[in-house]
Amino acid sequence: MPELRSAQWYGGDGRDAYIHRAWMRRGLPDDAFTGRPHIAIANTASDLAPCNRHLSEVARSVRDGVHEAGGIPLELPVISLGETQLRPTAMLWRNLAAMATEELLRGNPVDGVVLLGGCDKTIPALLMGAASVDLPAVVVPGGPMLTGTFKGIPLGCGTDVWRLSEEVRAGTLSREEFTRSESAMIRSRGHCNTMGTASTMGLLAEALGMVVPGVAGTPAPDSRLLVAAHGTGRLAVELVAAGRRPSTVLTKASFHNAIVALGAIGGSTNAVVHLLAIAGRLGIDLTLDDFDRIGSRVPVLVDLLPAGRFLMDDLHRAGGLLAVLREVRDLLDPTALTVTGRPLVDYLDDAPIWDTEVIRPRSAPLVDEGGIAVLRGNLAPGGAVIKPAAASPELLTHRGPAVVFDSIEDLHARIDDPDLDVTADSVLVLRGCGPKGYPGMPEVSNLPMPKKLLAQGVRDMVRVCDGRMSGTAYGTVVLHVTPEAAAGGPLALVRTGDIVSLDVAARRIDVEVPDDELAARSPNQATVDGFARPARGWERLYVDHVRQADTGADLDFLLGSSGSEVSRESH
Ligand code: FES
Ligand code: MG
Repeated sequence: MPELRSAQWYGGDGRDAYIHRAWMRRGLPDDAFTGRPHIAIANTASDLAPCNRHLSEVARSVRDGVHEAGGIPLELPVISLGETQLRPTAMLWRNLAAMATEELLRGNPVDGVVLLGGCDKTIPALLMGAASVDLPAVVVPGGPMLTGTFKGIPLGCGTDVWRLSEEVRAGTLSREEFTRSESAMIRSRGHCNTMGTASTMGLLAEALGMVVPGVAGTPAPDSRLLVAAHGTGRLAVELVAAGRRPSTVLTKASFHNAIVALGAIGGSTNAVVHLLAIAGRLGIDLTLDDFDRIGSRVPVLVDLLPAGRFLMDDLHRAGGLLAVLREVRDLLDPTALTVTGRPLVDYLDDAPIWDTEVIRPRSAPLVDEGGIAVLRGNLAPGGAVIKPAAASPELLTHRGPAVVFDSIEDLHARIDDPDLDVTADSVLVLRGCGPKGYPGMPEVSNLPMPKKLLAQGVRDMVRVCDGRMSGTAYGTVVLHVTPEAAAGGPLALVRTGDIVSLDVAARRIDVEVPDDELAARSPNQATVDGFARPARGWERLYVDHVRQADTGADLDFLLGSSGSEVSRESH
């Protein structure tokens, strides 16, 4: 075991070491302070993050593993974010959770950390924090819930909420039945069972090398998750001995592999923002264009909602991430390492597909070219993204008149107005939903269909927004428009009736207004009035410092790493 960081607190016989040791004793043996690594278990279990509530049981298995390997496990509750509970959006606090994780790991006498997350923002926040403090770290993803059925039909979390609620609006499902489906939607512990952001980020944490290969995607109630947690606890002690840190594992090569994985699993658009933010903490030069360059050739192989049919427990029984990656092995960077010290590609030899309906072989993909397309144009000079696999193919090239909403309130007030001048060819534009404008860049970009078009059977239209979209949503949605309206982006200048043109093959999103005319316009007062202007607190700090979506929407002063050094003693 190399010289331990925790020895800077506990070593020696001085007054300060006395204080650090004495307050920690409470049952720990003498040798806890002499040469045994102290492993934090950063736990996002919370009653208000229901997808993560079971992580305290997972933490107990991690503890057992740490003990067994001779370490001292120390549970560290960190800020947790429940995607469905927090208003205005959980994303507003991803950076706060990351900052708190980083600071608590740095300030405390710990040598390494096991990160327990699940619900959408929790794994990204933990990885961002761990990257900036750069102590040996490994993730146990909390895993998806089991599939519930309603009237005999499997329900996909999120995706089927959007579908069922549109059915209520269209008059084909009663309110009573809609409410009755709630307990079928959420059948067990665990995070959303669709290929939403939580599933995506759990799997990508493994593709990045930060999870023991084969573990991500294990359903939350599955006993094998506890076995994996136990093994990961043991591994954490090994990581400290080996000095293997996030900066050892996370390289441009591992982000390359994560982008390939994102394409092959048909993962969430939110992964773009999260991967950019994690890379930003490591000083890795990852850009929005890398997602298009590396990812857009990758075939979608996983047939999961929202792009396909199945759910996360199906993916697990079909062979999981490793079986998917084996099919695209030639696209992976073989040099990228995992937490075990071995390259990711080493784990692909023995990774068969057990159900070729759920995981398609490379020769018969669900979609030939998946991934994320990055669009630019006079509507999005800094870039915007679209997930073609979740869009309607016939809308991927489209021109239509804009119907503009100045804020989310404006949208809610008018979208179902029978007099709204809108047809299936219109392009719905919503602004004021970026990181600064809302604030927090909420998942509102998949605007609901106007009721009168729903009644005509319209289920998709081109939509353009500076916000995000739930990973469980679908539709022809151009999102993450950068710069956002509140940061001076041209999205603020579009008027109802302007022709918007989308050409995904050419990677363009434009408004057909001459440059000089666009430049001469100023934003509507209603648009400007909709922008957030927080006076104090976290929201103030956030709005003053948040960067745009094209670089991951991190705070400007959180980029990079401060390492694990602490300059001064506490007394
Ligand atoms: Fe937690 Fe979907 S709400 S993962
Ligand atoms: Mg979400």
